[in-house]
Amino acid sequence: MKSGLMKKVFAALLAGAMVFSLTACSSNTSSNGSSTGASGSSAKHEKIGVSMPTQSLQRWNQDGANIVKQLKDKGYPVEIQYANNDVNTQIQQIENMITKGCKILIIAAIDGSSLTDVLNTAKQNNCKVIAYDRLIMQTPNVDYYATFDNYKVGVIQGQYIESKLNLKEGKGPFNIEIFAGDPGDNNAQFFYNGAMSVLKPYIDKGKLIVKSGQIDFAKCAISNWTSALAQSRMDNLITSNYTKGEKLDAVLSANDSLAIGIVASLKSNGYGTSAKPYPILTGQDCDIANVKAIIEGQQSMSIYKDTRLLAAKTVSMVEAMEQGNAPEINDTKSYNNGVKVVPTELLTPVYVDKNNYKDILIKGGYYTEDQLK
Ligand code: BGC
Repeated sequence: MKSGLMKKVFAALLAGAMVFSLTACSSNTSSNGSSTGASGSSAKHEKIGVSMPTQSLQRWNQDGANIVKQLKDKGYPVEIQYANNDVNTQIQQIENMITKGCKILIIAAIDGSSLTDVLNTAKQNNCKVIAYDRLIMQTPNVDYYATFDNYKVGVIQGQYIESKLNLKEGKGPFNIEIFAGDPGDNNAQFFYNGAMSVLKPYIDKGKLIVKSGQIDFAKCAISNWTSALAQSRMDNLITSNYTKGEKLDAVLSANDSLAIGIVASLKSNGYGTSAKPYPILTGQDCDIANVKAIIEGQQSMSIYKDTRLLAAKTVSMVEAMEQGNAPEINDTKSYNNGVKVVPTELLTPVYVDKNNYKDILIKGGYYTEDQLK
């Protein structure tokens, strides 16, 4: 009897110790600080790998932080890495995540078409893949895509220019130049196509004039979405085409990092005075520097994509996939990656300008008033 009781006590202690050591294992703190353990019940959940393109733009830092926080709150162990906009670094980081046992990968690709091999490895290791914000191209091994409606982003930018220049009312002609995003980012083409669906008819009618003649996507694309390259392209466009007193009335910029470079160029070329006011200038992301530029009148608008919502949608996809269920999606036809149509959840973008930023960004809790001073 006595020894039976001892055995039971020992077994209970052993079980307790095993639970403790399991929890300790899955808390997963690593020395490079990139791997973050989940608080609470992580032993129940698969490990999730999050691969982000770069820390050099505000939005990806926010995206990464939101995803990690929301996954940790639900008890998931998470490994997050930023790849400094270098494709090979991103591939290596994803390989590491697979080696370290991540079972679902959330990837915002630097170059959508460069991940085919590493995602074959993911498949061989039974890892599922969610393309985050940017579609991953040329692979069957991407399960779902979570993003904002990229075509609509472009349409809203185009419609903003259309309305501010009163193009529908027949005004014009106006001078415009066009800046598109990185050619390796599938989104860039969608933004461009959406904007051109609104603007191209006015270009064809001569109501919008692109003095440089650079209208095709390939001519307007800015590698890696780099501000400095946008700035030097704008400098070149101005010095070659706007030297005889002609002024720019609008610039279509696909996002905020391009708009930063465009404003710097416009400023150094004498824009921003009452004789030569800034042209209508679009953007995307509502980065803090750009919202400040909107308040100061250098940039006209930006597209607001609430990264908290995109993270929440992605985390709910993770939960469904882990349980073997199909995540809810709302688009099954728009995003063909060259191998298959990837089931997608599209969130809705909206525009922010001087008139509505307080309601949307401050009342919406995205920024405090102080952050925008
Ligand atoms: C994103 C934009 C972002 C751009 C540059 C795109 O894929 O959708 O929000 O501005 O990349 O990082």
